[in-house]
Amino acid sequence: MTILVTGGAGYIGTHTLIELLQAGHQVVVYDNLCNSSRIAVQRVEEITGKKVDLIQADICDRQSLDQTFSTYEIDAVIHFAGLKAVGESVEKPLTYYQNNVSGTATLCEAMSAAGVKQLVFSSSATVYGDPQSLPIREDAATGATNPYGRTKLFIEEMLRDLSISDPAWRIALLRYFNPVGAHPSGLIGEDPQGIPNNLFPYITQVAIGQRQTLSVFGDDYATIDGTGVRDYIHVVDLARGHLCALERQNSNPGLLTVNLGTGQGYSVLEMIKAFATASGCDIPYQVVARRPGDIASCYADPSLAHEELGWKAEKGLDEMCRDGWNWQSRNPHGYKPAV
Ligand code: NAD
Ligand code: WQD
Repeated sequence: MTILVTGGAGYIGTHTLIELLQAGHQVVVYDNLCNSSRIAVQRVEEITGKKVDLIQADICDRQSLDQTFSTYEIDAVIHFAGLKAVGESVEKPLTYYQNNVSGTATLCEAMSAAGVKQLVFSSSATVYGDPQSLPIREDAATGATNPYGRTKLFIEEMLRDLSISDPAWRIALLRYFNPVGAHPSGLIGEDPQGIPNNLFPYITQVAIGQRQTLSVFGDDYATIDGTGVRDYIHVVDLARGHLCALERQNSNPGLLTVNLGTGQGYSVLEMIKAFATASGCDIPYQVVARRPGDIASCYADPSLAHEELGWKAEKGLDEMCRDGWNWQSRNPHGYKPAV
């Protein structure tokens, strides 16, 4: 198949390109590079030995989308493109609604006009808000707590309506838990701009000496040690999930919503310990106040993904930390050259 990968130069996108290319698919990356680098795509070419076309354009730009669909014979779209910083979404909600929600509507219009009706969408466990019960099943109540999360919820609803309006659409809503780690080659990985918002890249930057101390946001939650618990998933496992979703769509039209998580939660302190062991580095930390909007615990019931997609996470916490450290230590400045 030929797959258009929006946001394909980003963290999860590049890892998914590798799985797609290694499975024999052709890929076209469509990315405005607002949060990524073309070097990441070159690294994918290096890892796979295959050529990747990169179109630097915006999903809000209908003309560029139309041109892309007329240049390539696209069979399906994996749609990663979006802004993802929770704090920024609180400050600039309209930017998030415009980019994520309107951008997705424009993409779907262009797909429809081109007769391409197979879509895999990057949703998030953030749509569950503060879950009522754990582990979280796909039929749990939804309700996001910030504008970023609401863009995911609104897009899910929009895509549900689209699939009802025209049964020819094949749509997978993949709700990711917390992706971490990197490709084992150490050539691609997460490269946050500025101060990382998320725990894992913050830990790796403390380990490499770029940041002095990790702030642990609260140790008074009702969890194993008082710190927040999350379902961390190796990005390569997550990437494989997209391939499984595409394969399932080939024999099943309609809309499917699935969690992609491991089912196992780890606390912040457990993460620090595991990373220190894997890297051999000290991770100095101090406990500070809770981060507003954070929840105590969040982990998936991943059984539906196993039943429907034949997918299951295979890589454990040690591998997540080892591969994350391999990427960070080989690329201390991410894709940027050393200064
Ligand atoms: P990322 O920022 O590394 O990748 C997103 C890519 O989309 C970037 O390359 C960026 O340049 C591109 N992009 C953004 N807006 C665009 C636009 N208007 N037009 C074209 N390209 C655009 O993020 P990621 O971690 O790889 O996340 C991929 C997707 O998965 C996002 O939709 C994100 O919301 C979702 N997601 C991520 C996480 C996570 O923790 N990383 C968790 C759940 C869901
Ligand atoms: C994990 C745990 C923090 C940083 C966010 C988004 C979510 C999703 C993934 C896309 C929590 C604690 C963190 C730090 C800390 N993205 N922490 N010190 O909050 O589960 O999810 O990213 O959809 O939408 O909300 O992930 O990595 O930020 O935090 O103590 O410097 O680590 O309090 O318990 P989170 P995270």
